[in-house]
Amino acid sequence: MFSFFQRATFSTTLAALLLSTSFASALPSHDTTTDSGKLGPSKDAARQNGFQIFNAVHSAMRQWGSSLHHNGMSLFVATVPAGVTFYHGTHSPTPPAGPEWLAFDIEHAEGFARTWDRPPPALSEEDTAMMQFREHDMDAQIRLRTPDEPTMPKNESDDPVPFYGYLHIYQTTKPLRLLYIDGMSAGKTLMGTLDTQDLLLRGSRSEHPYNDFVRADQLCELVTSWGLQGVIRMECGFEIIKCDFTDSMDLVSANRRPNLSDPGFQGYREVSLLEFIRALSQRYNGIGGGRVAVDYSSMVSALFYPVNLTNPDPSRSELPRLVGVADEQLQAIRSRLAEVVPSRLDATHSVVDWQGVADMIVARYADKLRHLAGNVSHSVMQGGLNSILNIYIDYSQEDKNLVGAIDRCTKHYISAVTPHTQEDHLILAGIESVMTSICSALFNARKIVIENTDADDDAFATASAILQRLVDDLRWAKWKECGPCAYDEVCLVAMWPYGDKMSHYQPSCRNNVSLRYEEKDHYWKDPDYPRGPGGGRHPPPPGEGLPGKRPPPEGDGPDDL
Ligand SMILES: *[C@@H]1O[C@H](CO)[C@@H](O)[C@H](O)[C@H]1NC(C)=O
Ligand SMILES: *[C@@H]1O[C@H](CO)[C@@H](O)[C@H](O)[C@H]1NC(C)=O
Ligand SMILES: *[C@@H]1O[C@H](CO)[C@@H](O)[C@H](O)[C@H]1NC(C)=O
Ligand SMILES: *[C@@H]1O[C@H](CO)[C@@H](O)[C@H](O)[C@H]1NC(C)=O
Ligand SMILES: *[C@@H]1O[C@H](CO)[C@@H](O)[C@H](O)[C@H]1NC(C)=O
Repeated sequence: MFSFFQRATFSTTLAALLLSTSFASALPSHDTTTDSGKLGPSKDAARQNGFQIFNAVHSAMRQWGSSLHHNGMSLFVATVPAGVTFYHGTHSPTPPAGPEWLAFDIEHAEGFARTWDRPPPALSEEDTAMMQFREHDMDAQIRLRTPDEPTMPKNESDDPVPFYGYLHIYQTTKPLRLLYIDGMSAGKTLMGTLDTQDLLLRGSRSEHPYNDFVRADQLCELVTSWGLQGVIRMECGFEIIKCDFTDSMDLVSANRRPNLSDPGFQGYREVSLLEFIRALSQRYNGIGGGRVAVDYSSMVSALFYPVNLTNPDPSRSELPRLVGVADEQLQAIRSRLAEVVPSRLDATHSVVDWQGVADMIVARYADKLRHLAGNVSHSVMQGGLNSILNIYIDYSQEDKNLVGAIDRCTKHYISAVTPHTQEDHLILAGIESVMTSICSALFNARKIVIENTDADDDAFATASAILQRLVDDLRWAKWKECGPCAYDEVCLVAMWPYGDKMSHYQPSCRNNVSLRYEEKDHYWKDPDYPRGPGGGRHPPPPGEGLPGKRPPPEGDGPDDL
């Protein structure tokens, strides 16, 4: 981008002007160190991380954006109202004590409510390797569980005990107050999806990604001490770790699952992965049904702090990590969270709808920017820029360097909200810096191809490159959408543990055949990968259990949903 700015010398002056007209100075300032000398948040850091703050707010509780921006750095208080239905798949008809998992989606829980056949048929070498790995992993988890928890009946003979799955349905009887951990926070990967949980919340740098029972216990200990009842996370589907299953919800039913080997269930395994992804794709743009209200004004984020979020993997520099953040810095962020969470539980405060602000901005700019950043004719470029920017210009006024217009452009959507909390001011600083980038790029392009009446092909190429650079910086998830798919297809984005590399970098519509291709070029880097020629293997989706796979003694995968 900078070479273009240098070629168009007037743009550098404009950039300088933009910096000086920023209205952030009107906001209360926050020092980066507090009275006690501890690390504090800073608006400069929020501005620097503005693109990521914008995307975090825009993607909150949305499967699509959270799958693409999968290393979440932010935490929010969230409320599930009374009367909401949740699902839990397990081996027993009676509710577990907790902490245990609740799924927002039927198909997600069904994957954990399987009836297992016996005897186990001969397994391929790869399947055997996978099972040995899995069972080793289960054993580790079981050893770590508390002794009073119920265990599956054990039969010492060679054949496994016949074993049935149950799908529980629960309904909340009171609002649940939860900690929402953003990004792909239930993805048991080595890529940074667990950083906020393991490094920030648990203060530990050496956790095995699959140790999720221990993680759940510790998270529950922490969040209940703040007055919450659990956490919301996301993997292939959103889930709640509910710390106490007897608290604020009723068991509606616990129906036994069918034996999929019985006649009448033919084809179930063939459709189940497609139907699973189809169910998840209904949550791409939101969890739906008013099931979760996110308190955006409670957002505590590492993105607000002047800390080193660089990813040690240089090929994934777009994904932030917490590994380079010092322990005392992580502790300072956690202390802020410990202050914010209890202060947001009285329900008398106002919540700024920052996601609504981000939605308005994306709705107005996303398609237009992408269009103009491509190869468009001179008249389309000029017409497009005018149609975006005319609203901010008063053509009867002399507006030197269009300073007033650029300021109106920057403030247009954020003037709708009144920040209250310190975190509101930090989100504002982040979103404002994004708006400054958008408006400055657009007015730069306008200057080059509209104000400059001698604009030649080079000038138009420069304008288009400025907009392309903006698109690259914004990284809006909307630009990776598939568009409508045929009814026998689904738009697949990589959602742990599913998805090949293409489904992350360039999601597309998949049918029942191309969905299975994922195993060949697996996207997620987790301890299950790489192994063998097929790459990573994972807990199966609903109905996809390896035929005759012996149930683990506890009957559950790493997540017992
Ligand atoms: C499932 O059905 C098959 C075929 O009908 C039968 O052989 C098997 O024992 C059944 N398994 C269980 C757990 O009921
Ligand atoms: C274990 O399973 C075998 C065969 O299914 C059965 O005969 C035996 O009674 C079972 N033992 C226990 C302790 O349940
Ligand atoms: C995919 O669907 C087609 C047609 O709907 C079906 O004939 C085929 O058996 C399916 N293949 C797999 C691998 O499920
Ligand atoms: C930031 O963290 C990265 C990755 O952990 C590390 O390579 C880099 O040296 C750190 N930078 C600074 C300035 O400490
Ligand atoms: C841009 O579009 C024009 C006209 O459609 C075409 O001639 C030209 O090759 C395109 N350039 C690029 C880089 O695609």
